[in-house]
Amino acid sequence: MCGIFCYIGPRNAVRLVLEGIQKLEYRGYDSSGIALVSEGKLIFVKKMGKVAVLQAAIENQLSQQHLVAHTAVAHTRWATHGKPSDTNAHPHSDRKELCAVVHNGIIENHEAVRHLLEKRGIIFRSETDTEVISQLIGYLYKGNFLKAVQRGLALLQGAFALAVVHQNHPHEVICAAKESPLAIGIGEGEMFIASDPYAFVNHTKRAIYLHSSEIAVVTKNSVRAFNSRLLPIQKESEDLKLDVQEAIKGKYPHYMLKEIFEQPQTIQNALLSRYSEEYGTAILEGAHFSDEDLLKIQRIIILGCGTSYHAGMLGAYMLQEKARIPVEVEISSEFRYKNPIVVENTLAIAISQSGETADTLAALKELKAKGAKILGICNVQGSSIAREVDSSLFLRAGPEIGVASTKAFTSQVIILALLTLKLARMRLMGQNEGKQYIECLKRLPSQVKEVLEQADYIQSLAKKYAHYEDFFFLGRRLMYPTALEAALKLTEIAYVNAKGYPAGEMKHGPIALINESCPTLAFCADAVTYQKILSNMMEIKARGGKILAVVPEGATDIKKVADDIFWVPKTIDELSPICSTLFGQLFAYYVALERGTEIDQPRNLAKSVTVE
Ligand code: G6P
Repeated sequence: MCGIFCYIGPRNAVRLVLEGIQKLEYRGYDSSGIALVSEGKLIFVKKMGKVAVLQAAIENQLSQQHLVAHTAVAHTRWATHGKPSDTNAHPHSDRKELCAVVHNGIIENHEAVRHLLEKRGIIFRSETDTEVISQLIGYLYKGNFLKAVQRGLALLQGAFALAVVHQNHPHEVICAAKESPLAIGIGEGEMFIASDPYAFVNHTKRAIYLHSSEIAVVTKNSVRAFNSRLLPIQKESEDLKLDVQEAIKGKYPHYMLKEIFEQPQTIQNALLSRYSEEYGTAILEGAHFSDEDLLKIQRIIILGCGTSYHAGMLGAYMLQEKARIPVEVEISSEFRYKNPIVVENTLAIAISQSGETADTLAALKELKAKGAKILGICNVQGSSIAREVDSSLFLRAGPEIGVASTKAFTSQVIILALLTLKLARMRLMGQNEGKQYIECLKRLPSQVKEVLEQADYIQSLAKKYAHYEDFFFLGRRLMYPTALEAALKLTEIAYVNAKGYPAGEMKHGPIALINESCPTLAFCADAVTYQKILSNMMEIKARGGKILAVVPEGATDIKKVADDIFWVPKTIDELSPICSTLFGQLFAYYVALERGTEIDQPRNLAKSVTVE
């Protein structure tokens, strides 16, 4: 979280860094700021709010000062230490305002370092942990910029990435990464530094990644990399496989809508060359586990946060049911504090769209240390999680920009369904059942299209329900995580209180909240529990609760209980979450549209959560 973007080169640095941090706003948008070196002086502009506010302030300030800058560092913030404000906005500086630091991640020992510096007479201006870095570098600076940064870094604990510019060294930016990646984009006589290479891919497709405890001195023509002891290291550049077009909104008013509508294609991409129709099984291309390794698995632990956790819950139902392997699914941030027990032949699966979620990264490191083999299910190649795991299956969903995850979720479920097929076929699923399973997978892209074609109807339902402040989202078995995910979508983008719950548990407490102003969205596409949820809905109806039901085609008995119905195409239970989720995503989107909330950048949230 937080986005860093820097530029050094002949072009107008201000315009370029503004454009860069705009692309990184998905990482946080509480405040933004830039520092630029102009005529030998450091100039700061920082504003609370989105990059657009900063842009207006800069246009105002720069037109008055006629500033030209060829080196600039910029930042968009998701507040951790200190409320969103102009003062707490990055870049931060030392007491003489000679250096400017932008940073993402957390400095865990910031208080101790702050006290140390305060004792030496340094007065802090902000509440941030970042100012500790800039003041420390300023304090240690005795003419050697690189040495000051290196000595400062040695005193800092945590997972972070940073970039620093110094007034006395106007032609270089020093950057560093400690357990949080940073990409350096190599152009022709110009360089870019960003938390995510997607921010500079329209300028260059060649990049170097800094990893743990590496430092680089970047000028417009060179990148010199060092380890934490300042010994030079050789870094190979990589060709980025990002497509600029994929990250453009195109005809859609929001990234979220675009990403929802991409799902017939992204599901297709996730499936591509990953199954054999002849043998009725999956091919886990990319996962470097032998059949022997897979046969040995006796226990599976799935980790994830947010939407990825919901995908993991679905995976747990599928794998346990079909492959008959005991599966636990855990929220990463809780799991690591349980002192996990890792028995022999445990496979851990870390699910993360971004591949950067700090809680998932920390949990998987804990499991790795205890001997588990780890499979990553990620969207971003080269991400921290993808690098840490034993092997990865990538979603191939393209960049997901909307903060609320949509297409990544359905691709995660597809990968888990393929893994289920593979493990089940190696154990007790017959070839014919495997072939039928593949037929159902292959039908999904067109079934998803059928749901998308009904977007207008979903919008009319959303309009009808948009004024409610409280909802229950209910489901049983595979529809329970589906309901949780749909409720999360509505909560995060429309700011309504949507509570996902297992329908069978309602009678143990929450049913007390049911009345005519608290409607229920009932997800009924799980065949095994269909009759059970029907009874749960009757109980709600009997208490005056309004019901909108998402039901497989043909299940006409729902009409006697539901007030409104959305029909989803029929499939096997394992794959039924896909079309029901599509409904949930579009419902949330249209309710948010009706309520006028900020759909792509909901308040207080960020897409990539790199703090624990
Ligand atoms: C944030 C995002 C969610 C996402 C979660 C986990 O909270 O807003 O959409 O599900 O992080 O992210 P990951 O990248 O690990 O899937």
